[in-house]
Amino acid sequence: MAAIPRHRVSVIGGGGNVGAATAFALVAKGVPAEVLVVDVVEKMAQGQALDISDASFMMPGTCRKGSFQEAGQSDVIIITAGARQQPNEPRSNLIDRNYKIIKSIMDSLQPIKPTAKILMVSNPVDVLTHIAQKTSGLPRRQVIGSGTYLDTGRLRNALSDITGVSPTSIHAYMLGEHGDNQFTGWSSARIGGRPLLEHPKMQNIDLDGIYKNIQRKAYEIIDAKGSTYFGIGICAATLAEALLNNTSQVFPVVNYVESFGCYMSWPAAIGSDGVEQSFDVKLDDVETKKLQSFDVKLDDVETKKLQVAIHAIKEVCDKYE
Ligand SMILES: NC(=O)c1ccc[n+]([C@@H]2O[C@H](COP(=O)([O-])OP(=O)(O)OC[C@H]3O[C@@H](n4cnc5c(N)ncnc54)[C@H](O)[C@@H]3O)[C@@H](O)[C@H]2O)c1
Repeated sequence: MAAIPRHRVSVIGGGGNVGAATAFALVAKGVPAEVLVVDVVEKMAQGQALDISDASFMMPGTCRKGSFQEAGQSDVIIITAGARQQPNEPRSNLIDRNYKIIKSIMDSLQPIKPTAKILMVSNPVDVLTHIAQKTSGLPRRQVIGSGTYLDTGRLRNALSDITGVSPTSIHAYMLGEHGDNQFTGWSSARIGGRPLLEHPKMQNIDLDGIYKNIQRKAYEIIDAKGSTYFGIGICAATLAEALLNNTSQVFPVVNYVESFGCYMSWPAAIGSDGVEQSFDVKLDDVETKKLQSFDVKLDDVETKKLQVAIHAIKEVCDKYE
């Protein structure tokens, strides 16, 4: 008989595509926790949990349907509930629909375990992470969002194809907003301790073309099959694993960045307390100051995109205080 896992991870919205892919990835990875599938449509939650538990005879994890009350007492609460994008629809369009859903979920989870960590996946993920933190009552460091982790994976895969180096050895990030204002941190990107852009195979590469392909990918998948879920499922499961196993790995996740005064995708070390450290990405004091005053015109393209992203996120968060 299998040992009873010490931890519990709940996937709210687990009846849907992203939630089920996340629950499956958690079980397949053998994350040291019982996985609960929770959904407002209980029959879907039951169906997904039964299906995943069938697979678990070959895999290390366990999975069952759970209730909102059980989810509130979980160590990690992953939220994938809510409306998804239609073909060619920007993520920012989902805010009104998903704001109400996230608020009602937070009510249903109460009382939330004081040491729980919330991982937001639903879109727009930056703004919904802010709302989840406000409505859950948990400290900021315990509420994060999957942010640009998936986009960063797409970037590293593209750079791996060009350089022939493993994606895990390429230190490059997509940052800012998980949406149309995200940007590539080219200036801070490193490979083998050297600036990425100095790699011989990165010469004469169309950097803007790489960026545009990454941005287009989600739209292309949604256009072809209606939604994206395998990639984000493994990303969410990996983040949950970091939270449970206290790995202190650095991920580009939505976390509260003090210097910008808002939640956004920025590199952070993730461990059992949530965000353990947040890192500054090669911006000097003058640039940081300029970023906070939105009327200053900046020449650098990356910095300009970051400025737009902060502005866009803050504007929406203020509306949903
Ligand atoms: N962050 C990312 O990188 C990323 C990637 C892909 C999708 N997403 C987002 O994930 C979300 C889900 O996408 P999907 O394709 O799985 O959609 P889906 O329609 O397949 O699933 C959504 C699920 O949420 C459930 N739900 C709705 N209201 C609920 C409530 N109050 N409580 C519990 N469950 C509730 C629905 O019953 C459904 O099962 C969307 O917001 C989508 O934009 C994020």
